[in-house]
Amino acid sequence: MTGTGRGIFVTFEGIDGSGKSTQARLLAEALRAAGHDVVLTREPGGSPGAEEIRRLVLEGDPDRWSAETEILLFTAARRDHLERTIEPALAAGKVVICDRFADSTRMYQGLSRGDLRALVDQLHSLMIGREPDLTVLVDMDPEIGLARAKGRKGTEERFEDFGPELQRRMRAGFLSLAKEYASRFRVIDGARPVEAVAEDVLATVTAALA
Ligand code: ADP
Ligand code: TYD
Repeated sequence: MTGTGRGIFVTFEGIDGSGKSTQARLLAEALRAAGHDVVLTREPGGSPGAEEIRRLVLEGDPDRWSAETEILLFTAARRDHLERTIEPALAAGKVVICDRFADSTRMYQGLSRGDLRALVDQLHSLMIGREPDLTVLVDMDPEIGLARAKGRKGTEERFEDFGPELQRRMRAGFLSLAKEYASRFRVIDGARPVEAVAEDVLATVTAALA
């Protein structure tokens, strides 16, 4: 399947602490064990330039950027990541697994500081113009995600700091996005043991690869 033309682009989405990074890593390991050539990457980041932008948007004063500038920065990071990491890997027939992508901008920048979804979508179609082949939405009650995410706080100013109300809106937003883009979204219940979620994720992605 891989190595014979265009690869497949899989993204993980969901609220902070839902287990995306854990599941993305386990999926990469399982697909590698099955013989696939896998690139595991993340946003914001995933290329040297985009990792620099990650520091600009996730560290320091949260009010440093206006809502509009923030959309531009996340989109600039994505453009670099797409050019340098994602597109070359897909062209080489690899499986690209990405922890967050444009759906996160639709939610976080599109909903958290006023209704800017139309602006996010315009910039996306102008500068990115591509959706994943498959998006795994790791869904769960925000209380659980927040409790998990609190365990690993670092220097990054995460959006979870905005509190449970925003996380509830994000969850609802992701679920409605899954309806809007029903053909590429798969919703998976993340409020279960790691192995049970991983099993569902692998079955879902394997079916899509076939
Ligand atoms: P995200 O990338 O969505 O923020 P992570 O994968 O970093 O989530 O997980 C957040 C925290 O919760 C980590 O400490 C991780 O070890 C833990 N975790 C992940 N999945 C589960 C699970 N299914 N059950 C319990 N804890 C989990
Ligand atoms: P991430 O490292 O995935 O955080 P977490 O592991 O807590 O889910 O992403 C960092 C933060 O960046 C997260 O709070 C969501 C935010 N984010 C946006 O606001 N817009 C975006 O386009 C992306 C990709 C992430």
